[in-house]
Amino acid sequence: MLEIQHNVSLKNFNSFGIQAFAKYFVEINTEEQLSQLFNNSQIVKNPILILGGGSNLLFTQNFDGVVIKINIKGIKHIVDNQNVLVTAGAGEVWNDLVLYAVNNNFAGLENLSLIPGSVGASPIQNIGAYGVELKDVFESCTAFEIETHKIKTFLKADCAFAYRESIFKQALKGKYIITSVTFNLKLKANLNTQYGAISQELHNQNIQNPTIKNISDVVSQIRVSKLPNPSTIGNAGSFFKNPIVTKDQANQLIKNYPQIVNFSVDDTQVKLAAGWLIEQCGFKGLVVGNTGTYKNQALVLVNYGNASGQEIFNFSSQIIETVQQKFGVTLEREVNII
Ligand code: FAD
Ligand code: EPU
Repeated sequence: MLEIQHNVSLKNFNSFGIQAFAKYFVEINTEEQLSQLFNNSQIVKNPILILGGGSNLLFTQNFDGVVIKINIKGIKHIVDNQNVLVTAGAGEVWNDLVLYAVNNNFAGLENLSLIPGSVGASPIQNIGAYGVELKDVFESCTAFEIETHKIKTFLKADCAFAYRESIFKQALKGKYIITSVTFNLKLKANLNTQYGAISQELHNQNIQNPTIKNISDVVSQIRVSKLPNPSTIGNAGSFFKNPIVTKDQANQLIKNYPQIVNFSVDDTQVKLAAGWLIEQCGFKGLVVGNTGTYKNQALVLVNYGNASGQEIFNFSSQIIETVQQKFGVTLEREVNII
């Protein structure tokens, strides 16, 4: 039985801790409940927002429609030679899935330890951290098509994954609700320790032959030391993407700012560290009213108290403008503005 609630506070459903209200709010535990919900034409004629853990959203106003909180659970796996296909319900907590893999000694998810949010949101922006992106372990996902009420399977090639991008944020935005994701993990670990902070931390801890669990633990420790915990300081992780510029523009910037943090993407493109650009504009650790940037990471905007979403959004606009003026680089928000 579906329970459709009215006028529900979303404060505990977003990692920024922003007070906003949903006109309707419904929790979905099964794919069948999605069909039931979408058969209620009175309700679904309203605007729709799919909600996982709310850790990549900024509410700048109340949501005058239906918030659909995805709680579809379950994790199972099948072993096929050296591969393990692990399937998780979209409502599973991402890090619970990571721990399931780590505890079973399945390799592939350990670098993505402790990213907040749900399994179902992970393909939306192709989550990534410490040298690994979701696309590296993604096998397929199932999704409910809102128009037809049918469940469709998407393979990796269908998803147009790129840095913090997928087809679900672009051409198919608002058309599908992801219900499960299948990951291709390995029994024989081929560990990725290339990311500087990981190799440094393994060295500090004198770990020479790391296990899957070692990597997971080290990544978790690095993350805790760098990023604010949303349960104490509201935030949504990196507020902006790291901007990708042409090699020519990067060379000009490097000439003017030899310290600029940059990474080669390919022969023609270079990724710049947005945190560095923002810090150079004097924003790091700055407190402006109830908002500001985190003291250890200028790319993370925070709610220091009772900030409104609009206040944080306005501050982010100020950052975009200042970075644009100083460096001629346009920052793009990673967080979904609602
Ligand atoms: P939500 O915020 O609930 O939703 C995000 C978007 O996905 C929305 O547009 C929503 O409508 C859509 N969506 C959610 N579920 C579904 C579904 N089942 N079907 C269709 N659409 C859906 N991200 C990284 O990539 N790397 C990091 O290292 C990282 N670190 C973070 C650290 C902190 C402290 C925080 C707070 C966030 C961090 N993030 C990071 C961002 C965030 O964790 C990810 O974007 C995560 O995937 C969001 O999951 P969620 O369930 O909370 O999504
Ligand atoms: N930097 C600064 N000043 C700052 C912040 C960073 O100079 O205030 C410099 C650092 O010194 C470093 C570089 O910028 O040289 C990169 O910083 P960091 O390693 O902290 O990573 P990031 O590029 O800021 C990205 C992701 C994170 C992910 C980490 C680790 C994006 C937008 N962000 O951050 O993802 O966890 O790498 O892989 O790509 C997220 O998406 O929400 C998120 C947290």
